[in-house]
Amino acid sequence: MKKPCLLFLLLVITGGLAAQRPVSLSIRDTAGPIISRNIYGHFSEDLGRCIYDGFWTGDHIRMDVVAALKKIKVPVLRWPGGCYADQYHWRDAIGPRKDRKRTVNVEWGMVPEDNSFGTHEFLELCGLLGCQPYIAGNVGSGTPEEMENWLEYLNYNGKSTLTDLRKQNGRERPWNVSFWGVGNESWGCGGSMTPEFYSDQFRRYSEFCKDYPGAPLKLIASGPNSNDYNWTEVLMKHIPLGHTWGLSMHYYTIAGDWNHKGSATQFDEDTYFKAMKACLKMDEIVSQHAAIMDKYDPRKRVGLVVDEWGIWTDVEPGTNPSFLYQQNSLRDALIAGTTLNIFNNHADRVKMAALAQTINVLQSLILTDKDKMLLTPTYYIFDMYKVHQDAQSLVIQLASPDYVYEGQRIPEVNASASRDSSGVVHISLVNLDPSKPITIRAGLSGIAYTNVGGQILTAGKFNDVNTFDQPDKVKPAVFKGAHKDGDDLVVELPAESVVVLELK
Ligand code: AHR
Repeated sequence: MKKPCLLFLLLVITGGLAAQRPVSLSIRDTAGPIISRNIYGHFSEDLGRCIYDGFWTGDHIRMDVVAALKKIKVPVLRWPGGCYADQYHWRDAIGPRKDRKRTVNVEWGMVPEDNSFGTHEFLELCGLLGCQPYIAGNVGSGTPEEMENWLEYLNYNGKSTLTDLRKQNGRERPWNVSFWGVGNESWGCGGSMTPEFYSDQFRRYSEFCKDYPGAPLKLIASGPNSNDYNWTEVLMKHIPLGHTWGLSMHYYTIAGDWNHKGSATQFDEDTYFKAMKACLKMDEIVSQHAAIMDKYDPRKRVGLVVDEWGIWTDVEPGTNPSFLYQQNSLRDALIAGTTLNIFNNHADRVKMAALAQTINVLQSLILTDKDKMLLTPTYYIFDMYKVHQDAQSLVIQLASPDYVYEGQRIPEVNASASRDSSGVVHISLVNLDPSKPITIRAGLSGIAYTNVGGQILTAGKFNDVNTFDQPDKVKPAVFKGAHKDGDDLVVELPAESVVVLELK
């Protein structure tokens, strides 16, 4: 259990054989906030092959992907979009599958949509995964009535025409869905609204989002696009904070620009560096939004919900450009580790996040090819970091040496730490430098442990990937580079690596 005394770690990091590059990292376990498990959430849109071929094949949920996702303890899954959410009409996708409406996915490739995966299938999937559903309602092309009816269908336990319909469709009890998004990217694909107009829409729609008995809603407002601080300011001023559980924010790591994002596999150090720099910007963006939220909500009742994040590259050659299918390299795993460290260190305000998008789309955990599947390097980061879910964060202060590329600098090391409910301390460390290992000498004061173990994810090259021919090229290994040296903890952190240590 947590020790009553103040725990204090002072880690001195020096660069291997190179000239001394002293760094201090201090970690305290005093009053760090709990790292919500929901920070480790995921996003699955009806886009490309995320749902169809990913979660769903023929007429059933893929149990191989369910088993893999259960292992990493997915806490929450967001659906049906994304941009698709604001063109989605839930009634199109309930009832006998043969009778469901045939529609067109106008958002993602103008492809036919048979709606065989709908509300019942999504909620069955969440049940199999043991995770909370997070549904984004349609504000852009829907109506308050449509949203209200969907909630009644989902959450009402009494008798009504809609609950009779639910029962007729095979579900007796309500699902009690609580996480509810009021639109998605309302500044863009969700309706091109101004923050003032959206604030009014949020007020209007949320009036019709009722708490059914046993199913209190946690409403999430459609928040800013990356560093659009004005959006946050206007919403925090105008929306009813007492009825708002969260404010979403989307930020994607892009190494190039929107028209030329760069290949997921063929990139050099220049592109690698740009991607890492862009990824680290998440810290600044979260901090700035949090500062604005603090002005209006000093008690931090409204969570920042980073419900779309990850690296976005060009699609794999030969694939449909609208399907956003990209490979996933060691670089992307370093991005995941770094971003999760940022979220852990902002656990006072970041209450939920969702990586985009689980299977076959953007920074995926899983890629599938017909009945085959593989786990990406990013998957393994979520596996290694799951120890932080619901653990108490340990407040850290870190000053790292820089990784310097062509005169530009970013911090070489980033970290986060937590103590779990059984008292075990976990420290996650990322070394972004692709060629320099680094030595961390940590003076730990007040932490009693006899064993230090851990796992490492690294590879020969930053663009190494797992393929269907070589599915295990990038995978975690037991980490043997940490040991106790008197009162010190010494960690030899290899170049381009992610390590999660366990002290017990
Ligand atoms: O994740 C892909 C798209 O990116 C989502 O549909 C949208 O919300 C964002 O712009």
